[in-house]
Amino acid sequence: MKLIVTKDEQQGGLEGFKVFQEALQNNAQTFGLATGSTPITTYEQIVQSDLDFSNCISINLDEYVGIKPDNPQSYRYFMNKYLFNQKPFKQSFLPNGLAQNSKQEAADYDQIINQHPIDLQLLGIGQNGHIGFNEPGTSFDLTTHVAKLTESTIQANSRFFKNINDVPKEAYSMGIGSIMKSKKILLEAFGTQKADAVAAMFNGPVTIDVPASVLQNHPDVVVIADEAAAAKV
Ligand code: GLP
Repeated sequence: MKLIVTKDEQQGGLEGFKVFQEALQNNAQTFGLATGSTPITTYEQIVQSDLDFSNCISINLDEYVGIKPDNPQSYRYFMNKYLFNQKPFKQSFLPNGLAQNSKQEAADYDQIINQHPIDLQLLGIGQNGHIGFNEPGTSFDLTTHVAKLTESTIQANSRFFKNINDVPKEAYSMGIGSIMKSKKILLEAFGTQKADAVAAMFNGPVTIDVPASVLQNHPDVVVIADEAAAAKV
């Protein structure tokens, strides 16, 4: 894994943007995208740039179960707001949080991923080392599935909700098996609260207890962390 340490989140966003730019120059077709506060600075750089994704496909990592796409807490809403409204893709896929049959929805999403192999997958990291919503203990072989959020993730994500009880307890998530098939992976981490997870991802054993540690087994991973998040590596 290659580590790029930046002064701050803003600079990290710019470095992340450069990875997208390079991927496009290398004819990347399909981009795996992420939500959360982490990718926002990269999306801002993309929005301000002349990069053109109108011939590309995007596939997001995850979506909350039971939330409508036009709900401001949904990941679809987030993506529209921070990226798609300004930089449309030819097609943008996210799991449908309202699907009646979750097994079918997961299978359909796997089919989408299989039809569009991901050239560049963007990831954030949870404080407990989760990627997407693959929480500690999740098998490395899983594809798309409904994940139960851990207390720590519900706590961390409650900052986006009025009340912690409003945070959904489940989410569709791309599995680690699919994430690992991406040609290139870019993981971003900013802030002190990510320092332990980043250190465990880099230096710890590869274990399902720290889902991001699986990235040690991938041949092309770039991690962009600010000084605070990289402090314990
Ligand atoms: C959520 C998302 C992850 C994200 C993580 C960290 O749980 N499912 O994809 O990486 O939170 O979020 P943040 O970037 O806001 O710290």
